[in-house]
Amino acid sequence: MERFTAPVTPEVARRRTFAIISHPDAGKTTLTEKFLLYGGAIQAAGTVKARKSGKYATSDWMAIEKERGISVASSVMQFEYGNCVINLLDTPGHRDFSEDTYRVLTAVDAALMVIDSTKGVETQTIKLLEVCRQRNTPIITFINKLDREGRHPLELIDEIEDVLNIHCAPLTWPIGMGKRFAGIYDLQRNRTILYPGSDGSQDRSVHIVSGLDHPPLVDRFPVEVADVKEEVSLLHSDAREFDRDHFLEGELTPVFFGSAMNNFGVDQALDALVNEAPPPRPRAALEREVAPDEPKFSGFVFKIQANMDPQHRDRIAFLRVCSGRFERGMKLFHVRGGKDIRASQVVSFLSQRRETLQDAWPGDIIGLLNHGNIDIGDTFTVGETLNFVGIPYFAPELFQAVTLRDPLKSKQLQKGLQQLGEEGAIQVFRPLVGNEVILGAVGLLQFDVVAHRLKAEYGVDATTRSINFYAARWVTSENANKLAEFQKQLAANLALDASGSLAYLATSRPNLELTMERWPDIEFHNIREHAQRLSA
Ligand code: G4P
Repeated sequence: MERFTAPVTPEVARRRTFAIISHPDAGKTTLTEKFLLYGGAIQAAGTVKARKSGKYATSDWMAIEKERGISVASSVMQFEYGNCVINLLDTPGHRDFSEDTYRVLTAVDAALMVIDSTKGVETQTIKLLEVCRQRNTPIITFINKLDREGRHPLELIDEIEDVLNIHCAPLTWPIGMGKRFAGIYDLQRNRTILYPGSDGSQDRSVHIVSGLDHPPLVDRFPVEVADVKEEVSLLHSDAREFDRDHFLEGELTPVFFGSAMNNFGVDQALDALVNEAPPPRPRAALEREVAPDEPKFSGFVFKIQANMDPQHRDRIAFLRVCSGRFERGMKLFHVRGGKDIRASQVVSFLSQRRETLQDAWPGDIIGLLNHGNIDIGDTFTVGETLNFVGIPYFAPELFQAVTLRDPLKSKQLQKGLQQLGEEGAIQVFRPLVGNEVILGAVGLLQFDVVAHRLKAEYGVDATTRSINFYAARWVTSENANKLAEFQKQLAANLALDASGSLAYLATSRPNLELTMERWPDIEFHNIREHAQRLSA
């Protein structure tokens, strides 16, 4: 398949850019730390833990503010493993789950899905995987916590296939679990990786033996070994073999089992990332497709983060390099703004390893300091007019109405919301009818952050209250008359977002379904593509 041919540039060929997707508590932080440890970026491992330790109360935004230094640093972690340069992008989970979490997934070439073996597929994983599936992102699965009594591995595989609609190809298989966890069987290489102590030895290092019939193992775990033989033959008869093309198309996921906490089975998943996951691929722009090994630099912004210091309106735009090479001192052309920016404003996320950013290659992430003139989805080049596509805004799932305590501050409120909306901190909807402003988010904390920042940065004391909306859908139509009629009849449920795009705010699922049924000429979109605005 032409599309997946390895790029010729060695620096591109050895890049792997991925994110970990999981439900809170499945083990993402633990696994991240192990990866960093393997990659020798040990210092950063504490950082990840420190960040997660913030089990903040909702009102504790200032504490989060203080942690933002850490949060910026741990947003992108780079390490080397097996001659590859790996960029691990954080997907904020827990309380700071937000639209950013989804958007990070537009900047990766693969994702590692962590499933808790005691729980199976959970809600946040479903949502995140849906975003990956829309983009055909290759997924590697790690089933964690085998040292605990979990669900049967076959049942877990079936659940992943049914709920997430992706084929599973187990590459390792667990021998027992919980107190009787003996290790994992490597199906591809017909060998067994023994869980420390499972062969009766006091030695805590990991031993690898050929086949499954290692006598001390069979002596101590006769039932478990027999079960594995039966289950493996079942896997074979179900044709659950690994097929790389299907993996690269996002249709099949290789599955690994282990215990992140005990550092067991983790390297097999990491090896798969290095050996099977793709290097940066060509990326579509409105104008043309851009190949990573083209000599000229290009990249797009997928996330904007306000600076730590609320006195300064500086923001950091996270840019993923798509082609060419970024070199220190280089001028970058901001396509939408039509201006060059100075490279002194470029920061590195790799400070754990290097003092300053010297160069960056496709797949790497660089940070651009700015004062609010860069938006999510913006493209940077060395002069060419390119607009990368595929960096969408996602339909919010939670809604609140804004009420201003001091009506004289209305102007500041408008300005603050406009800027926070552009930054992607929240989505701002102005209903066609009435004056109330409606905020849309995918994570609850986003509302607290906005209220806090309105006060700290714009001097606006605003409160928010829940409002009865179920979902937002951006609406378009080929038929201008129908759209006008729709707009007239349903004005009470329509609003414009920060970019001026029209959205339908549904009060319930039946309301949304009924409206879609009644208006077949109207298209309802649950993502708004940044480039739509440019092409409109
Ligand atoms: P997250 O980032 O996905 O939210 O999960 P995290 O790694 O923080 O793990 C959540 C909890 O699960 C942690 O326990 C962690 O120690 C535990 N855990 C992770 N991997 C394994 C594993 O392989 N086996 C077992 N048994 N537990 C695992 P905690 O009590 O919340 O935190 P801590 O006190 O251990 O730090």
